[in-house]
Amino acid sequence: MSSTWTQFGYLVAAVLFILALKGLSSPRTARNGNLLGALGALIGTAVLFFSGIPLENLALIIAAIAVGSAIGAVSARKVKMTQMPQLVALFNGVGGGAAALISVIEYLEHGGEDKLALTATVFTVVVGAVSFSGSIVTFMKLQELMTTRPVIVPAGKYVTILVAVATVVGAVWLVMAPQTWLLVALLALALVFGVLFVLPVGGADVPIVISLLNAFTGLSVAASGYVLGNVLLIIAGTLVGASGTLLTREMAKAMGRPITSTLFGAFSGTTAGSAGPGSDRPVRSGSPNDVAIMLGFASKVILVPGYGLAVAQAQNVLRELADMLAERGVEVDYAIHPVAGRMPGHMNVLLAEASVPYEQLKEMDEINPEFSSTDVVLVVGANDVVNPAARTDKSAPIYGMPILNVDQAQQVVFLKRSMRPGFAGIENEILYDQRTMLLFGDAKDSLTKVVSALKNV
Ligand code: TAP
Repeated sequence: MSSTWTQFGYLVAAVLFILALKGLSSPRTARNGNLLGALGALIGTAVLFFSGIPLENLALIIAAIAVGSAIGAVSARKVKMTQMPQLVALFNGVGGGAAALISVIEYLEHGGEDKLALTATVFTVVVGAVSFSGSIVTFMKLQELMTTRPVIVPAGKYVTILVAVATVVGAVWLVMAPQTWLLVALLALALVFGVLFVLPVGGADVPIVISLLNAFTGLSVAASGYVLGNVLLIIAGTLVGASGTLLTREMAKAMGRPITSTLFGAFSGTTAGSAGPGSDRPVRSGSPNDVAIMLGFASKVILVPGYGLAVAQAQNVLRELADMLAERGVEVDYAIHPVAGRMPGHMNVLLAEASVPYEQLKEMDEINPEFSSTDVVLVVGANDVVNPAARTDKSAPIYGMPILNVDQAQQVVFLKRSMRPGFAGIENEILYDQRTMLLFGDAKDSLTKVVSALKNV
């Protein structure tokens, strides 16, 4: 394939990536966006094969593609919706790790003659390795293979600063005086820094860090594109870096905190909160019949879905309940918090699966003024996103995050299985409020019972 055709192929792939991002910006077009992105990646890979580059290890390359595709296809098919963020964290980390490894190999093969290429190599190794080890730690946190709370070790702040300074000094040194042992040491330092960087982040800040690491991977891939002289990698990496950075900013804004406080807050202990399985203070619990009566005689109801809705896979029965209420003339809306669930847009995707019309999904800013004129709020498996500690408790990991103002409604019903706290690991005072009723049990079971009770109300 001539160089012109190769560049044309890359251009087509790059345009497809941009169209994919556009498609991914709305739930209606996200599926198509995803397919366009996959097509772009396929074209980019195919063009590389026919571009005339030497393909000495063709059998190994094909074997690696086959193994990678098989793992990707099986894990994407098997993963539950609630485990998607872990999968994203893992794939993201592998991307950063691959970019770092490629740059190490490029260095070993071509040395460090060209200073500009060497700078890009060092950048890729450091940022890719940070993204790799940091993503593995976030994966372990989300998979609950380790605590989801901030891990704060004595003098951790100083060790992290020391490792960061050593990494920067090592990187500059390597560019000035290329030596293989230094590259290996730098790789190790960057891996350690990635772990130290993410360990103190906990609770509500984990999604922001995933998005930031995603941006890191993008940047390291873009730099590896420079090292390899591959324009498509530069474009794709820059797109991922830019979109990851924008998403990080948007999420930090939704949480009401500057990014710096997410990243450095834990060092000062400000993201530590009170953990525990929930206190044994008295609460008011009710039956499905009680809840059906409350809902059936309300004139305005707001439904607040959260992570528990996804765990219980109760989206269809929630929609059934909403439809029944609407048929009775009750005004019903869904309140969507930007970080409800475990990934951006989690609730939108879940409710779209149950064909809930988009018009009924109200974003936080739009719905918050409505709570004070609402009779009943039904909180289905949500906790942190309605926890008023975010407004008042400076020691809470979610402090400063805007919440859904459910405490302003006349009555609140919580569907959950126990008194255990949510992801951030802190108590929710609304559960103990006199206007609150708890219906204990799996959300799907409870909603099914409420639906059948409502038929007799
Ligand atoms: P959480 O605060 O995690 O609360 C989930 C609630 O669901 C818990 O109260 C849990 O109580 C209940 N639950 C779990 N399984 C259930 C089931 N089968 N049936 C009924 N209830 C069930 O969720 P949230 O309010 O959606 O807040 C999200 C949290 O995750 C935030 O802290 C957010 O920062 C964090 N996070 C978000 C993301 C993104 S981007 N969305 C990514 C990572 C982390 P029981 O155990 O008692 O049932």
